[in-house]
Amino acid sequence: MTDITVTVNGVSRAVSCSPSTLLVHLLREELQLTGTHVGCDTSHCGACTVVMDGRAVKSCTVLAPQAHGRSVTTVEGLAEDGRLDPLQEAFADHFALQCGFCTSGFLMAAKAFLDTNPSPDEEQVRKAISGNLCRCTGYQHIVDAMLAVAEGTT
Ligand code: FES
Ligand code: FES
Repeated sequence: MTDITVTVNGVSRAVSCSPSTLLVHLLREELQLTGTHVGCDTSHCGACTVVMDGRAVKSCTVLAPQAHGRSVTTVEGLAEDGRLDPLQEAFADHFALQCGFCTSGFLMAAKAFLDTNPSPDEEQVRKAISGNLCRCTGYQHIVDAMLAVAEGTT
């Protein structure tokens, strides 16, 4: 077992885990943060996306010990003081979800992208979410929601 300390959603968490534990399993099974989903076993779907030190990562491709000393934000960490993040508001306003299974991954990919690219064009937005798959929306509503946040029109 390996002892690691990870800051998750602003709270320092000390856990003991196998060196082969995936970050997504640490989040879901040890920390009960089940908003991060597992949608594939091929690193393709992006449902497991979280933000680690400001970058979107697929948490099924990160070993939990690799997160030692780092800061991880999951979808549970987006809302503050009971208020939804503007991205969450925009996804709701623009009907950017249907079943919702992919949504937490899209939100976290969008969060990391817009935090470093606050004024993107549509092509850049589409590229930013190209690692995330949605079987329901056709993507346009997700793109619209992200552009609305960028343009401050939510
Ligand atoms: S669970 Fe599909 S990319 Fe991680
Ligand atoms: S909303 Fe259903 S998979 Fe994206």
